Amino acid sequence: MPKLKVGVIGTGGIADIHMRSYSANPEVEMYAICDLVEERASEKAKQYGISKIYTDYLEMLSDPELEAVSICTPNHLHALISIAAINNGKHVLVEKPLCKTVEEAVEVENAVRASDRVLQVGFVRRYGSNTKIANRFVEAGEIGNVYYAKASCLRRIGNPGGWFSDQKRSGGGPLIDLGVHVIDLCWYLMGRPKVKSISGNSYHKLGNRSNIENLAYYRSADYDPDKNDVEDLANALIRFENGASLLVDVSFSLHAKQDEISAKIYGEKGGVELEPELLLVSERHNTILNVTPQVDNRGFDGIKAFANEINHFVDSCFGRTQTLSPVEDGVEMMKMLCGIYESARIGKEIQFGET
Ligand SMILES: NC(=O)c1ccc[n+]([C@@H]2O[C@H](COP(=O)([O-])OP(=O)(O)OC[C@H]3O[C@@H](n4cnc5c(N)ncnc54)[C@H](O)[C@@H]3O)[C@@H](O)[C@H]2O)c1
Repeated sequence: MPKLKVGVIGTGGIADIHMRSYSANPEVEMYAICDLVEERASEKAKQYGISKIYTDYLEMLSDPELEAVSICTPNHLHALISIAAINNGKHVLVEKPLCKTVEEAVEVENAVRASDRVLQVGFVRRYGSNTKIANRFVEAGEIGNVYYAKASCLRRIGNPGGWFSDQKRSGGGPLIDLGVHVIDLCWYLMGRPKVKSISGNSYHKLGNRSNIENLAYYRSADYDPDKNDVEDLANALIRFENGASLLVDVSFSLHAKQDEISAKIYGEKGGVELEPELLLVSERHNTILNVTPQVDNRGFDGIKAFANEINHFVDSCFGRTQTLSPVEDGVEMMKMLCGIYESARIGKEIQFGET
């Protein structure tokens, strides 16, 4: 069977795990690589034995032999490159978030609909082993109707700087960067209900806390403490058309004792904690049971989840399955993220039309 010829656009932090996962898939040929910074692309090309190196993604996309791409660039380029790739007949795996605005998201959706290409959004937590386990319980009806969820990802000092803290390139701070993961995880397991209304808040109180000493934290390559115009913290209550609701809070900077992550869903028959560790809650014979699944890793296993995500994308490109994270979900997620920012901006709840 011929191998799928894949290219990667943007070869910074996250691209390596894409390339590692593609390289481990026997049906893939790592074919092309592109980064504005040529040395960065060349180094990765050497590491993964890739012969075609580009600094211009349009030039790379014009190669008719290239079949699929991973887009691992900063967020402001996601829509532009996705549309160019689809229009050049390539399948696309675009990193989260799908883009920066709902308008861009709809443009990407239209391009995908007008084509026969696959576009998978990199909602990697959907592909985690524990999400798959939880989903089996949800789909079997053992959690019952899920009517409430809580998602949280709080960093006390975790603004990576660089493009992440430049609103024009990122589209926002912790909400669009971290919130997208935990909101999606809950929303996916809630059955992806349509959003009805959002009440959100965002705060710019502590900045990037670059004054903090004696504590290491992740900083992007072009970190500059003087540049930061994204929120420190955002929170929101999202109501869905089916009556369910989701409460979320996320931060890059916060006077919190420690970093924390949690994602929990609550149904009429049981509950599931996905983050920080998988746990099932139910009730039998008038007794509450907190059930600890006996699995290799009850936390989020990123390496495995990315491998699953990439393998699923490859299967979708070969037409053997449909993507688990389609463009429509990327659009609905942009409605939620942008809705939170808009509600915070105007200081009021915002409503979405019935669909
Ligand atoms: N799924 C996850 O868990 C996860 C984790 C981290 C990042 N991400 C996402 O991945 C994307 C990239 O994040 P990162 O941390 O790797 O960023 P990064 O800054 O480390 O890397 C981005 C790379 O894109 C390159 N680039 C910029 N403009 C380009 C262009 N026009 N053409 C080609 N290359 C270009 C940069 O030179 C850089 O090497 C973001 O959208 C981010 O949200 C996802």
